[in-house]
Amino acid sequence: MRVLPALFIAIAALPISSCEDFDTVAALSKYGVNASNFATGGSRGSVAGSPAENDLATRDEHSGCKYACGTLSLLYHGNTAYPQSPAYHFEEAGYWSAVQAEVEPYCFFEPEDSVAVAVTVLLSRLTQCPFAVKSGGHAAFANASNIEGGITVNMAKMNEVELSEDASVAKIGPGNTWYGVYTALEDRNLTVIGGRVADIGIGGLTLGGGVSFFSGLYGWACDNVKNYQVVTAQGAILDVNYDSHFDDLYYALRGGGNNFGIVTRFDLYTYPQGMMWGGSRVYLINETDAILNALVKFAYDAPSDPGAALIVAFAYAEQLGGYLIAADLEYAKPEANPPIFDAFQNASYISDTTKVVSLPDLTVEFNSSNPSGLRETYWTATYKVDLDLLQYMVAEYQTQTNNILDVAGLGPSFVLQTITADELKYMTRNGGNALGLSEEEGPLLLLDIAFWWNDAADDERVLQACKNMVDNTLAYAAERGLAKEYLYMNYASQYQNVVPSYGAANHAKLVEVARKYDPSGVFQRLQPGYFKLDGAPTEGSP
Ligand SMILES: Cc1cc2nc3c(=O)[nH]c(=O)nc-3n(C[C@H](O)[C@H](O)[C@H](O)COP(=O)(O)OP(=O)(O)OC[C@H]3O[C@@H](n4cnc5c(N)ncnc54)[C@H](O)[C@@H]3O)c2cc1C
Ligand SMILES: *[C@@H]1O[C@H](CO)[C@@H](O)[C@H](O)[C@H]1NC(C)=O
Ligand SMILES: *[C@@H]1O[C@H](CO)[C@@H](O)[C@H](O)[C@H]1NC(C)=O
Ligand SMILES: *[C@@H]1O[C@H](CO)[C@@H](O)[C@H](O)[C@H]1NC(C)=O
Ligand SMILES: *[C@@H]1O[C@H](CO)[C@@H](O)[C@H](O)[C@H]1NC(C)=O
Ligand SMILES: *[C@@H]1O[C@H](CO)[C@@H](O)[C@H](O)[C@H]1NC(C)=O
Ligand SMILES: *[C@@H]1O[C@H](CO)[C@@H](O)[C@H](O)[C@H]1NC(C)=O
Repeated sequence: MRVLPALFIAIAALPISSCEDFDTVAALSKYGVNASNFATGGSRGSVAGSPAENDLATRDEHSGCKYACGTLSLLYHGNTAYPQSPAYHFEEAGYWSAVQAEVEPYCFFEPEDSVAVAVTVLLSRLTQCPFAVKSGGHAAFANASNIEGGITVNMAKMNEVELSEDASVAKIGPGNTWYGVYTALEDRNLTVIGGRVADIGIGGLTLGGGVSFFSGLYGWACDNVKNYQVVTAQGAILDVNYDSHFDDLYYALRGGGNNFGIVTRFDLYTYPQGMMWGGSRVYLINETDAILNALVKFAYDAPSDPGAALIVAFAYAEQLGGYLIAADLEYAKPEANPPIFDAFQNASYISDTTKVVSLPDLTVEFNSSNPSGLRETYWTATYKVDLDLLQYMVAEYQTQTNNILDVAGLGPSFVLQTITADELKYMTRNGGNALGLSEEEGPLLLLDIAFWWNDAADDERVLQACKNMVDNTLAYAAERGLAKEYLYMNYASQYQNVVPSYGAANHAKLVEVARKYDPSGVFQRLQPGYFKLDGAPTEGSP
């Protein structure tokens, strides 16, 4: 057993509340960490207590985090990084959005196994030092996977990709990117269901849903997890699957985000996959009607050829001084121009990268159109598929964007996808996920507003323009009975209240699961970032 040295005893007088019946010191000692020094003075590590006791802002400096980070440094040499060090700068550079890279944790910690993750959660409880978890770091808004003055747990070192003996399941660490996973499985002509851009992480994408090129064939990423290895609020390491924790955690982790535990391994079903076909076609804006018609047709035709996938994005090209349309077309087989895309072939395009390509190479192509290091915002809404609504949406996008075209470095994308009947059908697999969508209401239209820009001074204007697009299009849709409540976590902004949008019954069930596995709300209050069970991450409006 490691006894933590006297250096840290001085911090022992922290006002830790103790009205909860959970012995954090005992839990730590099971992992060979003797933190009893910290708890002397009659205080036991626990999270429950009055709001005032738990208000981190009122605490003395960052004394809890000093202890927690210091302990992690001692236990796991070389895996922590503090401000001013090159390692810390390297960590900050690992975020896709500049808005997240600006957040400064007390320390970064890179665990190498699930025990180290459990020890981190327990140390956070003991010291009340808040934490955030980072997988691929692609969430767009501040504090989603980074935390001011707390511990940011970067899963990067947990990057195993291991096939089960019969190759039906790939065990994947949350430190991987999808590019790494697809590349590792490529030699075996296998794939798993995950992201479409190389550098996206396994963790965030899979816990929020996860739309893949192959979702028509197999469903979303969250519907293709056989087993989750999870560290709970008590520091337990659980296997969560159809046979174990089926009716609670296995349900909740399929769409519930970071509210239930830290997933230390995703065991994903594998599928045969060789070369495919795909790329982007770019159209001038006068083809809008043709492309929107083609999108509607695809939404309804998709079940006739579920190997096809489609993304339609409206964007502004400064060089041309005008708007453009990009249609990303993909097909699971190495066959060019499958007939389901005829309408996209018929409209006249100005460029085309479609080709027979490997999955990893296609994710690299799309990676290059999503540069990192810029200020970013994502917003979402869901609608019924309707041509008139789509025309209104595209007009509204241009109206709002025209108001902010002077914003330096503006990259405004308005991205339209369909949630097809097949994708919805797979959401009932293994007892069903938490998202609250059903096959009968499909196909659906999924909006992802994705804007980038250069300067913090423009944050408010950009965010307000995006919010207007969401509000106005949803209002227009609602008047016509075309608005849906569902908000896709992975595309939502910090002003959107995602979990309740899964419907009252799902929301209530998720709250109940959290109460069972995390009665004192560790993942609600000690991990405050991202979409909690109640309320948007940031209250109010931009
Ligand atoms: C360029 C780009 C392309 C995208 N492409 C797609 C796509 O093809 N399909 C799609 O569905 N979405 C896509 N998205 C959206 C994407 O799913 C979200 O941005 C998602 O949050 C990214 O996951 P991450 O692990 O990289 O993010 P992170 O920022 O690391 O994590 C997001 C949230 O998940 C939590 N989290 C991460 N790992 C764990 C874990 N192991 N245990 C517990 N909590 C965890 C984090 O704490 C954080 O709150 C894309 C986004 C971008 C920016
Ligand atoms: C933990 O360390 C303290 C001294 O700091 C010691 O008194 C105690 O016996 C240790 N507990 C265990 C379980 O080793
Ligand atoms: C992120 O957290 C910081 C510090 O707690 C806070 O000041 C800021 O407003 C948060 N940002 C967002 C977008 O929630
Ligand atoms: C993968 O597919 C290619 C092309 O069909 C084939 O040549 C190769 O032998 C396959 N590899 C394995 C491991 O099955
Ligand atoms: C759009 O404009 C281009 C170039 O001006 C032209 O070639 C094309 O035919 C137009 N398409 C439609 C549908 O009007
Ligand atoms: C594409 O164009 C061909 C030839 O003009 C036409 O026969 C076909 O119906 C069109 N298909 C679609 C889906 O628009
Ligand atoms: C993806 O793009 C980023 C730059 O935005 C780059 O650093 C990274 O290497 C790219 N990833 C791959 C796999 O090409």
